[in-house]
Amino acid sequence: MGHIIDHRVLVITGGSRGIGLATLNQFIKNNWRVVNLARKPCDVVGVTNIAIDLQHLSKAQEDLKQELSAELGESSVISLVHNAGVFINDNVAEQSAETARALFEINVVAPIILNQIVIPMMAEGSSIIYVGSTLAEKAVANCASYIASKHAVAGLMKATCQDLAGKGIHTCCVCPGVTETEMLKERCQQTPGLLDTLSKLSAYHRLIKPEELAELIWFCANHPVINGSMIHGNLGQVER
Ligand SMILES: NC(=O)c1ccc[n+]([C@@H]2O[C@H](COP(=O)([O-])OP(=O)(O)OC[C@H]3O[C@@H](n4cnc5c(N)ncnc54)[C@H](OP(=O)(O)O)[C@@H]3O)[C@@H](O)[C@H]2O)c1
Repeated sequence: MGHIIDHRVLVITGGSRGIGLATLNQFIKNNWRVVNLARKPCDVVGVTNIAIDLQHLSKAQEDLKQELSAELGESSVISLVHNAGVFINDNVAEQSAETARALFEINVVAPIILNQIVIPMMAEGSSIIYVGSTLAEKAVANCASYIASKHAVAGLMKATCQDLAGKGIHTCCVCPGVTETEMLKERCQQTPGLLDTLSKLSAYHRLIKPEELAELIWFCANHPVINGSMIHGNLGQVER
């Protein structure tokens, strides 16, 4: 038994805080090995931290491949969780291509590169979980680049399902609603009352805890029946 557990590895981006940190704790609790790819390390015991800036992953691709293959071996049951993401407010009428490109590097291109590195190391039973957003399927005003990037993530997940058919690797896109993380606090700190407004977007009139998403991601990693699905974790959104 010990042998099997040793070969289950979570490879997660953005495990240093927020939903990523909660997810990594959920997998550690269930005896998975964990590799965290982020700029800052997380100090959870048992986690291997690989410091990486996902905005410039293309340049670091070969080094990361070496480091990951040393860490993972030739074939392991891997759950690759594309969690790291950045949010900005911008508007289609005033969108900066440069800013959008930087955001796309992290939210979309980094998962594409990581898939190239990790898929060859995946044994049957592995999974690729994308972290989307409610904004992966709909739009609100003033988040244009983020919305476009999360729709791209949804498309990448659907392509993953089609392209890996028959390989015993499943995928899905977990779409959080408004979740109590540093990202959310940073987004709300300039606008008084925004946090309260956003928390009332859920039918439960509260923010989602990162641990609730962690349990959902854990479920998805372990249940191939959800292959190809958009999985929502938003407590039910009140439509405006
Ligand atoms: N919170 C919400 O309400 C919400 C709602 C919908 C969707 N989501 C999605 O959920 C995911 C996690 O969000 P969160 O709220 O937990 O965000 P968060 O608290 O801001 O954490 C983001 C994580 O991404 C990593 N990251 C950001 N830029 C990076 C870069 N250039 N290189 C490497 N790592 C980078 C950060 O690590 P370092 O700083 O250490 O690099 C951090 O660990 C994101 O994809 C987000 O879009 C969140």
